[in-house]
Amino acid sequence: MFFMDLNELENRAKEELEKIVDIKEAEDFFKKYLGKKGEIAKVFDSLKDFAQDEKKQIGQEANKLKKEIEEFFEQKKQEVKNVPAKHKQKEEKIDITRPGFKKIRGHLHPLTLVMEEACGIFQTMGFEIALGPELESEWYNFDALNVPKDHPARDMQDTFWLKEPKSVRSKLEGLKSDKPVMRTHTSPVQVRYMESHQPPLRIVVPGRVFRNEATDAKHEAQFYQLEGLLVDEDVSSANFKAIIEEFLKRFFKTSVEIRLRPGFFPFTEPSFEIDAKRADGKWLELMGAGMVHPNVFKAVGLNPNQWKGFAFGVGVDRLAMVRYNIADIRIFYQNDLRFLTQF
Ligand code: PHE
Repeated sequence: MFFMDLNELENRAKEELEKIVDIKEAEDFFKKYLGKKGEIAKVFDSLKDFAQDEKKQIGQEANKLKKEIEEFFEQKKQEVKNVPAKHKQKEEKIDITRPGFKKIRGHLHPLTLVMEEACGIFQTMGFEIALGPELESEWYNFDALNVPKDHPARDMQDTFWLKEPKSVRSKLEGLKSDKPVMRTHTSPVQVRYMESHQPPLRIVVPGRVFRNEATDAKHEAQFYQLEGLLVDEDVSSANFKAIIEEFLKRFFKTSVEIRLRPGFFPFTEPSFEIDAKRADGKWLELMGAGMVHPNVFKAVGLNPNQWKGFAFGVGVDRLAMVRYNIADIRIFYQNDLRFLTQF
């Protein structure tokens, strides 16, 4: 009867030993079978209940079993001594159907998206990209563009004039004029480009401009423009209309209602203003435009009798406002991630 029990104990202990995979399980096994209050210790305790001759025989069997299990245990312990607890290798499964973790990626600002798209459309129509400085001189920003000396745009109210420390002076050295100014529009790049390139030419000029005025839902102290200039020997306002209609059609994709109004700019004659109808039914001024004024050609040394051209300045923020149905320009510059992450 008792021998059966020892056999059973032996089998059970060996079976459990087999399954041990980490050091924690090995320690548990030791406690359960070989420890002071373990199963084998219990066998020795129970010897006192047996007769003298049985005691001897069972004692010998139990000792044998104990040695055997100790040996097996030591072997197992060597195997798993470096495997940390809870390393359930056998139970670990890889679920290949589980969706991966979504990587958070950076993304472009809505104004960048709109600027890149607008430039891209003009590039497909043969326009090249040109750039100019944000810190301009009075000559490029106003004089060469036929803006009269007493024009209100030059006023302190509209223009950020800079003081002239020596460092700024030296940057402006070689320029035809004088007072440094944060450019109020991208039109000075028309002048810079025509000074160094012979027509025929087609350019667009993406850039940031600055106005010294109170901000409201439609006006910021800084915003973005996309200037356009096309000069050739035989250019009319019909060419301008065709190009701009094509641009707007491609940019807005759906048909956006457009309105052309007569306007006034000193550097174009005639001049136009172009508005777009927003989703809420309100008209929003999108761009100023016109035929290049003869005085601008003269300022860059081109003969106005030979060359004709059209120019336009698109408000990029305004394009974005119509595209995304945004009512307030100021939200573009507040860096609110709840807004920016939507694009
Ligand atoms: N520079 C003008 C502005 O900032 C826009 C414009 C550009 C108008 C070119 C005519 C031609 O409002």
